[in-house]
Amino acid sequence: MMRMARRKQIYEGKAKILFEGPEPGTIIQYFKDDTTAFNNQKRAVLEGKGVLNNRISEFIMVGLDRIGVPTHFIRRLNMREQLVRHVEIVPLEVVVRNVAAGSLAKRLGLEDGAALPRSIIEFYYKNDALGDPMVAEEHITAFNWATPQEIDDMMALALRINDFLSGLFAGVGIKLVDFKVEFGRQYEGELVRLVVADEISPDSCRLWDIASGDIMDKDRFRKDLGGVTEAYREVARRLGVLRDVEGNGAKGPVLVKDED
Ligand code: TMP
Ligand code: ASP
Repeated sequence: MMRMARRKQIYEGKAKILFEGPEPGTIIQYFKDDTTAFNNQKRAVLEGKGVLNNRISEFIMVGLDRIGVPTHFIRRLNMREQLVRHVEIVPLEVVVRNVAAGSLAKRLGLEDGAALPRSIIEFYYKNDALGDPMVAEEHITAFNWATPQEIDDMMALALRINDFLSGLFAGVGIKLVDFKVEFGRQYEGELVRLVVADEISPDSCRLWDIASGDIMDKDRFRKDLGGVTEAYREVARRLGVLRDVEGNGAKGPVLVKDED
């Protein structure tokens, strides 16, 4: 692609590519249509998914910034790219759960959908070769992946993000079952602060339609339920971020609906 040829690629992940940004300290995050699950064992290209996740993640990051949760997001550049701050990624996936599902339900023998006594935070070590194993604070501090203060900060931020997202989604008829977030260190002279990095999208959340119980997230792909992009599009539509996506890079069948 012409557009990509002139820039220096820094990293290619499973769902995104990072390029050097226009100014020092910035990065361009490109959202691919590639979708993987079970640590890359299951793969597909879902046309238009990257466009939707770019918009949904932008909307969420802007909302977080507005309530005082700092993020790496600077601005969206186009249908598939956003400008973000260059941060040092903390090698942890921070998962917040409100309802039993996925690996927690399996590990503890809980029924999918069972309410949890309170929101639960878990840490996973970001390491594809090991399949992102769950770790305890003991491992995190012993191996220096994060300091005790950073663990406290990540937990406090994760709960604020959970409150914000739970309310945001509940307002459009969606239950936030769980989600994963990543943090990065932003260096400002002598100071270091943690900011939300990566993306927050239906790739990294479990979202259930409150009225029907329908799955509206990447579990549709993991469980071969079909209609993955359609579900992501519905999430985007309900959040009100779809208006100018259609017919502009989001390929495939397009549902045109008037806003209520
Ligand atoms: P889990 O139940 O499979 O542990 O997933 C918990 C949440 O984290 C769920 O919302 C999906 C998300 N997640 C990711 O974003 N990336 C991953 O690699 C995994 C395993 C889960
Ligand atoms: N993100 C992981 C993968 O790409 C696992 C998952 O989301 O299920 O394989």
